[in-house]
Amino acid sequence: MKSEPLVLGIETSCDETAVGIVRGRVLLANVISTSVEEHAKFGGVVPEIASRAHLEAMQPTIAGALKIAGVALSDIDAFGVTAGPGLIGALVVGTSAASGLSLATGKPLFGVNHLSSHVAVDILDNESALRPSIGLLVSGGHSSILRIGDMVSDVETLGATIDDAAGEAFDKIARILELDFPGGPAIDRLAKSGDATAIDFPRGLTRPSDNPWDFSFSGLKTAVSRYIQSAPSAVKADIAASFQEAVVDVLVTKALAAAASCGIDRLVIAGGVAANSRLRELATARATAQGVELRIPPMALCTDNGAMVAAMTSLALSAGAAPSAVGLGADSTSGLERAIWR
Ligand code: KG4
Ligand code: ZN
Repeated sequence: MKSEPLVLGIETSCDETAVGIVRGRVLLANVISTSVEEHAKFGGVVPEIASRAHLEAMQPTIAGALKIAGVALSDIDAFGVTAGPGLIGALVVGTSAASGLSLATGKPLFGVNHLSSHVAVDILDNESALRPSIGLLVSGGHSSILRIGDMVSDVETLGATIDDAAGEAFDKIARILELDFPGGPAIDRLAKSGDATAIDFPRGLTRPSDNPWDFSFSGLKTAVSRYIQSAPSAVKADIAASFQEAVVDVLVTKALAAAASCGIDRLVIAGGVAANSRLRELATARATAQGVELRIPPMALCTDNGAMVAAMTSLALSAGAAPSAVGLGADSTSGLERAIWR
């Protein structure tokens, strides 16, 4: 019996140079080099610095992943790479490297969608992964509720944020609270010592007249800023915890309502914000109460990584998708309608 294909995935859409290797649905290696420290003093990712860091980290990260997986470059059956969305200069470093590897080895190349890949990481080491699911995709650039038949050809966006993404809201509030960058993990840590019921911040877009599956976080951001101005001596940890509770409450409420409305009993939460400890806790409690199977990737596979790209590429291979052209163009603004590049 032929073994499952060995796939190497490359992710460079933001500030992580990441390489993952999978065999079918089994994760063999996940190596990440990040330039986050270089961006911290600017309070956000500087595209040019990210691109240069990707160039420097690319070769050692690939070599490191091959070593951990215990395979040679010539063993790889297919290459996958994030082709969008993301920072254009950063994406091009990844697509160029992957094109070079494909040309040098004669193995097929798949340009895959970063957002699809965040959700596709759920297939790794997991039996139930291919059932229809609701996806809650929450990252620095996106907050969407998806109905997923299969990741390659049947993903419908039910709703999305009409302003800030969830991760963006965490990052902006962290800056106002003078916390470290990136803001999500900093708020998560601080909130542990705060009272989440201290301040009743608004839950955006939860009136009956609103599109039930859309999100809005700009009103919450304004409410938190105003609160800080009006109560400068308020306890920072209480603000962080109450803000986090408002975000997480809306995310979980809407995702589970979408599951009920679509008659789907499986929820996958993915993207960087899925690393949030309170989101994981609240989603677990409410999904259990509703009889919904909840899947959240392990923390290291929530934020950007190469394993998710390899996983998405594995799905493309098993769906019989045609490979992408070598030298494929990156698309910085691509949406979920484009799962695999042609
Ligand atoms: O998916 P990701 O690594 O990159 C994008 O594709 O955007 O997500 C990054 C986002 C950032 O906004 C970061 O603050 C947020 O995920 N994040 C978190 C946590 N860890 C990362 N947000 C809340 N709590 C966390 N623990
Ligand atoms: Zn991401």
